[in-house]
Amino acid sequence: MPPLSYGDPMHPLLGDDLARLPELLDETRAYAVRILQGLDDRPVAQLPVRREPTPLPAEGSGLKGAMEAFAERWEAGFAASAGPRYLGFVTGGSTPAALAGDWLTGALDQNPTSRVDSTAPDLEREAASWLRELFGLPAEHQGTFVSGATMSNLAGLAVGREWLGERHGISVAEQGAAALGPVSVLSGTPHSSVGKALSLLGLGRSAIRRADTLPGREAVDVARLAEALEGLGGRPAIVVANAGTVNTVDFDDLRAIAALRERHPFWLHVDAAFGAFAALSPAHAHLVDGLGEADSVCVDLHKWLNVPYSGAVQFTRRRDLQARVFANSAAAYLGPVGDDPDPVHLTPENSRRLLAVPAWFTLAAYGREGHAEIVRRDIALAELLGERIAALPGYRLLAPVRLNVVCFTLAEAPERTGDLVTAITESGEAFLTPTVYDGVPALRAAFSNWRTTEADVERVAKLLERLAP
Ligand SMILES: Cc1ncc(COP(=O)(O)O)c(C=O)c1O
Repeated sequence: MPPLSYGDPMHPLLGDDLARLPELLDETRAYAVRILQGLDDRPVAQLPVRREPTPLPAEGSGLKGAMEAFAERWEAGFAASAGPRYLGFVTGGSTPAALAGDWLTGALDQNPTSRVDSTAPDLEREAASWLRELFGLPAEHQGTFVSGATMSNLAGLAVGREWLGERHGISVAEQGAAALGPVSVLSGTPHSSVGKALSLLGLGRSAIRRADTLPGREAVDVARLAEALEGLGGRPAIVVANAGTVNTVDFDDLRAIAALRERHPFWLHVDAAFGAFAALSPAHAHLVDGLGEADSVCVDLHKWLNVPYSGAVQFTRRRDLQARVFANSAAAYLGPVGDDPDPVHLTPENSRRLLAVPAWFTLAAYGREGHAEIVRRDIALAELLGERIAALPGYRLLAPVRLNVVCFTLAEAPERTGDLVTAITESGEAFLTPTVYDGVPALRAAFSNWRTTEADVERVAKLLERLAP
């Protein structure tokens, strides 16, 4: 083994990159610009070809060499998921300001764990309060940044689990989930991430009790939910209400559900991963009426706020319980939890990226109005595609377009939607994801990108016409 040395010069490749940093970053910027300007021309997605890992480079090739290797080996196989016709899952792009914020996040490389060395955690507080205002949540809701809606659901449900403990006179954070006994989590059409969160939280996926939904809908039947709560005989529970289901973007009646707390004890968590953005469209804001009544709320940012992956926010009224769950109080150097806890005491991570910067940048750059325009345009475009598909022979809408997703199938042979999804991907023109809705194989086209225009919808409609059976 070579002896440890501190007198040697920096490794030559590192020293070289440091000396040429401005020039190398200019080249990186130019490369990124070429990628962004080519978004419209590259295949929107492609059927992936598995690449096996190569051995670890012993010597390395410096930043320029790494960039060349990346361009040659990887970039060409990546999807144009930042572009306007990537309509799979619920995928936002990255506004210019959000992207710039993301770059600067890396350049500044802050760890917002605690307030001992910088104002970085305060930027997160400011961005969280802007988001609270954007969604019209009351001041009692305080937001914390996490990496995605799954983590936001996890954090919200963790606070709910602690609330259950409080009702039983125990602390789950101290005694463990077993001390609670069986827990019921009632929900009409929960997102799959809720099951994952419950698995992680030790409550178990089987804690979910599916409450009946309204006929032909994914929204919960509030009267049936009330009956299910009644059946718990006063035992505290968790209700996960949905503001924007992933297939048909259906909304539970949040105000009516919240009102049930007058008669039944439950923690109300709302998964508003992308549905919260309905608040920005006057014609759709009623869908999230009552959101502020929730005890915890999940909102994703890499979906409709159009910040690059990853980012989401978790709001709750009970920051005291949140800190009880996530407190990292055993490390003296991080300081006490106190009344205004640092981020390290509020989320699963200790050290992490300063996640709020892209959100801060895009909100500072375009404000409420800029983001409302994206939301209204995406909704209008989803409606337009819905109209086009309804008029196309061979296709059938499976639900009305309530917000930003078109859920449809092949009229005669729904079982062949898998082939259609493949053909769409192979065309390179667009990307849509398959699903199953009410037992029927289907496709979803989700609009949440800031770049999408009417011309993109017409291209997708033409593609579907061409691929119609
Ligand atoms: C309603 C809802 N909740 C949660 C999630 C999970 O989001 P993420 O993949 O960002 O963790 C999604 C993702 O599509 C969603 O639509």
